[in-house]
Amino acid sequence: MADPIVTVSELLAPAFAAVGGPGVDPVVRPSDRADAQANGALAIAKQLGQNPRQVAEAVLAIARDLLVGVCSDIEIAGPGFLNLTFTNEFLASQLAAAANDSHLGVRSTPLVEHIVVDYSHPNVAKEMHVGHLRTTVIGDAIVRMLTFVGHRVTKENHIGDWGTPFGMLIEHMLDLGETEAASELSVGDLAGFYKAARVKFEAGEAFGDRARQRVVLLQGGDAETLRLWGVLVAESTRYFNTVYATLGVLLTDADLAPESMYNPMLPDVVTRLRDVGLLRESDGAQVVFPAGYLNREGEPLPLIVQNSVGGYNYATTDLACVIDRVERLKVDRMVYVVGAPQAQHLAMVFAVSEMAGWLAPGVAVHVAFGNVLGADRKMLKSRSGESLKLNELLNEALERAEAAVVDKNPDLPAAERTAVAHAIGIGAVKYADLSTDRIKDYVFEWDRMLSFDGNTAPYLQYAHARICSIFRRAEVDRASVRNSVPVLATPQERALALRLLAFDTAVWDTIDRYSPHRLCTYLFDLAQDFTGFYEHCPVLKAADEATKQSRLALCDVTARVMEKGLDLLGISAPERM
Ligand code: ARG
Repeated sequence: MADPIVTVSELLAPAFAAVGGPGVDPVVRPSDRADAQANGALAIAKQLGQNPRQVAEAVLAIARDLLVGVCSDIEIAGPGFLNLTFTNEFLASQLAAAANDSHLGVRSTPLVEHIVVDYSHPNVAKEMHVGHLRTTVIGDAIVRMLTFVGHRVTKENHIGDWGTPFGMLIEHMLDLGETEAASELSVGDLAGFYKAARVKFEAGEAFGDRARQRVVLLQGGDAETLRLWGVLVAESTRYFNTVYATLGVLLTDADLAPESMYNPMLPDVVTRLRDVGLLRESDGAQVVFPAGYLNREGEPLPLIVQNSVGGYNYATTDLACVIDRVERLKVDRMVYVVGAPQAQHLAMVFAVSEMAGWLAPGVAVHVAFGNVLGADRKMLKSRSGESLKLNELLNEALERAEAAVVDKNPDLPAAERTAVAHAIGIGAVKYADLSTDRIKDYVFEWDRMLSFDGNTAPYLQYAHARICSIFRRAEVDRASVRNSVPVLATPQERALALRLLAFDTAVWDTIDRYSPHRLCTYLFDLAQDFTGFYEHCPVLKAADEATKQSRLALCDVTARVMEKGLDLLGISAPERM
């Protein structure tokens, strides 16, 4: 039921093993020359010091029998490639199987892991920036995909809710009055709130003293201070939740794993590092030197876990967090969806955790991403140059999408229009983010991301809606066509079938590299193959009933793969738009 490329690779494995030894990879890939190409003979030839074409011939002599009914044609090409052409019957039967599979042919994981995905993690009483938008959107897509293939996923929203700024923030809240402060924060004026506190902190000594005393009270566990702190946290989370609701991400309050949660464990982190002999003193601070990390002068680079006055920091919290994930949650993998600038911090945290014996190599993964840029290719800012409020950005997306929908389909009833505009607007923002290689920066361009042409969410959503409309016009129940085995008579039908069957590989490539843009590219190719099919192959006006049924079946699977693929990216697919 998997991708035919995978099936053929499994079928060919014994032939390659017979010639090259056990475990040899047939290396099967899609190809322009045929449906697929197996390149495994090259490596064998190199290893055995033989002529690759002869190796390919030896493989082929065994493989022919293995591929009866699967390949209509196997040819040796170039320096020893096997060019494979699938039989139409094989493709059609695989497609019929995928159509009847709730996972549309996507393989489940052979080994179920418990995986933590650490994402979104904004900071309390600070505006979420576009970096937080990126981690939220990318992390959510990764969670959806890992869950889809059968892993057990724990989402952790490691919000920044602890540290010295809370002294000044609490004092500022007291100056404003709790109610006033709460309303400022819950509507999302986090940036204004933080800035005002900072200005006072820098201006007046009296305020600075109060702030510093407040930090001491907070760390000492003073009840009233903790209550005030709790108000800041609650109001900020309320704001984060409004952003999450608009975005349609999976995060809920149950996923909060805030920095403060690790607070009671911090002394233990230092003790344990001392016990395993890793703790050193450097300039009065307690540090660990992870092997292989040097500063610009070529000196060992320390990870500071306790400063000279006994305070713990971001790194200490992250070490506690690793211990918690390994020892309490017993995870097999932890995925950190965090911007590229924190690469060194995370690498050092992982290295120290490994040296301390808390973490096995390869268990922690940093899924890094680049910046969002404005048209001027500088960091994206609001028009007035202020930090960008995410809610405002998302509202603008909704407004623009609504205008686009009115323009495209003026007859859509008003209630449906709002829902469709939401799907398009939010889908466009998410897709623009997900469709570029995450490690690269990208330019935020409204017109491009909302366009109904090109590699955009609206284009893919439109392809899906168009298929839904075919079924509406045909007055055919979608499920009724799922039992017919499609006939792949034309090149366009064949190309579409091959693409549909590659959904499996597309999802797995995306998961293996934590790279959502791979799935995006796949869906874009699918939409284009569908367009090619639809232009050449009449569906409702097909020459005979059997052809019509077969083409409707192709339409149905295409729509479902598109819908599922978008869903894995966290994007919805309206039936009309
Ligand atoms: N709150 C941090 C920030 O806004 C990100 C936290 C990332 N997660 C972690 N375990 N360090 O930069």
